Amino acid sequence: MFEGRHVVLGVSGGIAAYKSIEVCRRLVDGGARVTPVLTESALKFVGPVTFEALATEPLVTSVFGNADPIPHTTLGQTADLIIVAPATARAIASYAAGISDDALVATLIATRAPVLICPAMHTEMWEHPSVQENLATLRRRGVNVLDPESGRLAGGDVGEGRLADPAHIIAEASRLLTTPDMSGVSVLVTAGGTREPIDPVRFIGNHSSGKQGYAVAAEAASRGASVTLVSTVNLATPHGVEVIAVETAQQMHDVVMARSDTDVVVMSAAVADYRPSSVSDSKIKKNQGDLEVQFERTVDILAALGRVKTDHQTVVGFAAETENVIDNARSKLELKGADLVVANDVSAPQVGFAHDTNEVTIVSAAGSVEVPLRSKREIAKAVLDAVVALRDA
Ligand code: CTP
Repeated sequence: MFEGRHVVLGVSGGIAAYKSIEVCRRLVDGGARVTPVLTESALKFVGPVTFEALATEPLVTSVFGNADPIPHTTLGQTADLIIVAPATARAIASYAAGISDDALVATLIATRAPVLICPAMHTEMWEHPSVQENLATLRRRGVNVLDPESGRLAGGDVGEGRLADPAHIIAEASRLLTTPDMSGVSVLVTAGGTREPIDPVRFIGNHSSGKQGYAVAAEAASRGASVTLVSTVNLATPHGVEVIAVETAQQMHDVVMARSDTDVVVMSAAVADYRPSSVSDSKIKKNQGDLEVQFERTVDILAALGRVKTDHQTVVGFAAETENVIDNARSKLELKGADLVVANDVSAPQVGFAHDTNEVTIVSAAGSVEVPLRSKREIAKAVLDAVVALRDA
């Protein structure tokens, strides 16, 4: 399962450190080359001899005093995956803040490989806003977090914070190691709701936060794709992504069509279907009576792409529906010439718009795949998996 892959297994100092021995053993059994990197406090819970006996590569406990004078960069560059199990609140905070105060965090900062963080700590610590905010920061940067489970903790306490089961850690590691590589693939993603001006101070807009589009861009970049994000919102730029800011449907159309030869286009933006027919040059002053605004159709960017796209390109549309989700998505697929339509029922709880979670059905000519409620980053992974599967076919 892990044949030929190099896994760095980071262990920080918590009582769950003894379970990292089992993780190490399973990785080696699966064929991986494993380099254990233990923090100073991890060594108080587990002995170096255990890892020296089990792992395939020399144990690293400091950036100094090794045969390799710069072990953290060598490990960062050669790792196919870095797992931190258990990850303590301190290790998570140092990683989020970029403080490379030990060999483990230095390696984490020196890598472009996927990272899997498996937190373990007491419930009070796990629920503390500092831990949760640091993990949110890491997730936003594309780090994978395997949440702890509920159960017995140190000192006889019971609650959330127990390290994920080694079998779950191995399953997640195997999923990450088989994530398709998208190097050499160009990806264009649109995100956010367009703003259609009425006058110099007002616009017609919608509630789209852009989070789903940013998650797709971040995930594509972490898979090695060269990614351009055409955005109407001002979220943190994902690592390695070029962002082009636009406001209106017409501006988004012009930017997208200028790059219409991109290998993969993901239209996750909520593009206005209508815009005011005329835009007042000066601010419209209020009067006693009602105000009437005439609207006209905007250009349909997805349909325009569908008309010019070639066989080697993949075009993905989104559909925000409140009823007949799959049927509507299927007709959108045909109508607009898209290869995939990601449909979500925006009337369902925790789905769409400003939420951090989403639940979608990915519809193609061949059928549909349901992706149950999960983070927008996880949804992005499923969408890109579907894109890669379609391109491979
Ligand atoms: N889209 C677009 N240009 C538009 C409008 C929409 O490219 N002017 C894209 C969106 O980015 C999205 C898909 O088309 O990928 C959504 O299709 P649309 O027909 O607008 O669907 P909804 O607005 O969800 O629904 P409705 O069918 O009610 O219009």
